This record gives sequence, structure tokens and C-alpha cells, in this order.
Amino acid sequence: MHPRLTETRWTDPRLAAAYATRLDLLDRDTAWPALTPLLTNPEPRHGLGRPDAVLLELGSGPGHYAGHLAEHHWTATHAVDISPAIHRHGAATIRDAWIHRTLPQRDGTLPLRRCQCTAALAHLLLCHIEQPAHILALLTEARRVLRPRSPLALIEPGDLGRDFQLLRYGDPDATAEPRPGEPYPVDYTLPDASRLRTTAYRHSPGLLADLLARAGFHLDEIRPLRPPSGGASPFTLWTAHAD
Ligand SMILES: C[S@@+](CC[C@H](N)C(=O)[O-])C[C@H]1O[C@@H](n2cnc3c(N)ncnc32)[C@H](O)[C@@H]1O
Repeated sequence: MHPRLTETRWTDPRLAAAYATRLDLLDRDTAWPALTPLLTNPEPRHGLGRPDAVLLELGSGPGHYAGHLAEHHWTATHAVDISPAIHRHGAATIRDAWIHRTLPQRDGTLPLRRCQCTAALAHLLLCHIEQPAHILALLTEARRVLRPRSPLALIEPGDLGRDFQLLRYGDPDATAEPRPGEPYPVDYTLPDASRLRTTAYRHSPGLLADLLARAGFHLDEIRPLRPPSGGASPFTLWTAHAD
């Protein structure tokens, strides 16, 4: 086990302030173009005041992707995050009436109705949650608020032990990949080129597949995403749909 890793406290205002500025070009170039066709309406109507798709985003962070979807894809997002401090940063910098910033309720449920959403997403969230029971609870809530057959997309870390300039997965000195359940560092690059260290946990593909099935999802595909310039894969895209 990594000697210096403790659970990341996402509600810490200093951590939230730093995370809100992280450089996310890799997400924009690699993850977003793969996600958008899965999550948005293929036949947009652009009705005045009415979004074409209503997304649930778990672990939305400040809401950069939600802002992009509102601006370019006529999509509203219920942007769920446990960190009030991260929501505050998002609200100050990314203002859009179609980003509904949401905190989970005290019992972990979401203040959303059944079948309210047309698609769901979690981008670099599940890897930061240690307990499989917590992942299952989140996925079960996602299933509840999704309409039947709606898509769910998960972005999880790609090749561990790699440095992708803007994202580093794993300790550069590590000699082996973490074992299932073991923590490892994920470093996000900030504008001054420093790295913000956070803790992630290795979940085996079998465990995530099992949790998806138990929450009421049918797994469609697990696909490594490569940057347009090629090379190693910084992200893995999981696609599933609500049963
Ligand atoms: C690595 S960040 C990803 C943020 C955003 N999706 C992005 O790609 O920039 C993880 C986010 O998940 C949030 N988070 C952590 N645990 C959570 C939970 N159990 N439920 C909802 N959000 C959570 C954190 O506050 C943080 O904003």
C-alpha cells in the first residue's frame, strides 16, 4: 500500500479551489468528443427554453462539461457533487441556467424524481470512491432517475503508471500496478505546472461490471480512449444502458 495516501477530502475549500483550475485539455480533446454523441439527443429540436436532453452528471466538479453541453448541445445537466466548495467555484465561473448544481441528500439519495433524466455520466468519479457499496448506491440512484433504456457513460483512468502531462496515474516510483482495492495517486496538473495529488482506488473491471448489473444496468462496451495524437490511453470509456 502507498505510504502517504489518505482519502481525498473534496469538500476542503483549498483543494476545491485548486481542482477548479486544473488543466483539462485532455478531457476536452479525448473524452468529451466520445461522450457527447452518447449522451445528447441525435435529433435536436432546439425548442425555446426546452433542453433536448436532460443529463445526470455524478461528480460533476465545477461543471465545465455541463457548461459545454448547455452551450453547444442544447442539454441541461443535473450536476451532482458532494463538495459545496467545488459548486461555489463552478457557480462563480460557469454560469448557465441549464446547469442545476446539486448536492446529494444526507442519506446519499439524489433530490431528483424517477425517470427525470435521459442520460447519465460519471467522469473520473468512481476511481476516487473507495467503498464498492458507495459506488453501488450512486449507480442505483442513477438508475432510479434515468428513463428505461437510457445510456450511462463512465470515464475511468486508462493506462495506469503513465504520465499524460495533464494527468498522472500512479506513482512514478511504483514497481507494480496497485492490487484491487488498493489506493494509488492521481495527480492533476494546475496552471502553474504543479500537480494536485488526489487518491484513487484500483477497482477491477469485474467488480465494476458486477456493480453496474446490480444497479440495473446492462454493460455494452469497455473501450480505451486515445488522444487524437495517438499514444497511450488516458481514459477508459464504459458504456451501459438502464435495463
Ligand atoms: C476528479 S473530480 C472529477 C470532476 C469532473 N467530473 C471532472 O472530470 O473534472 C471528482 C469529483 O467528484 C466529487 N465527488 C467525490 N465523491 C463523490 C460522491 N460520493 N458523490 C458525488 N460527488 C463526489 C468530488 O467533489 C470531485 O468534484
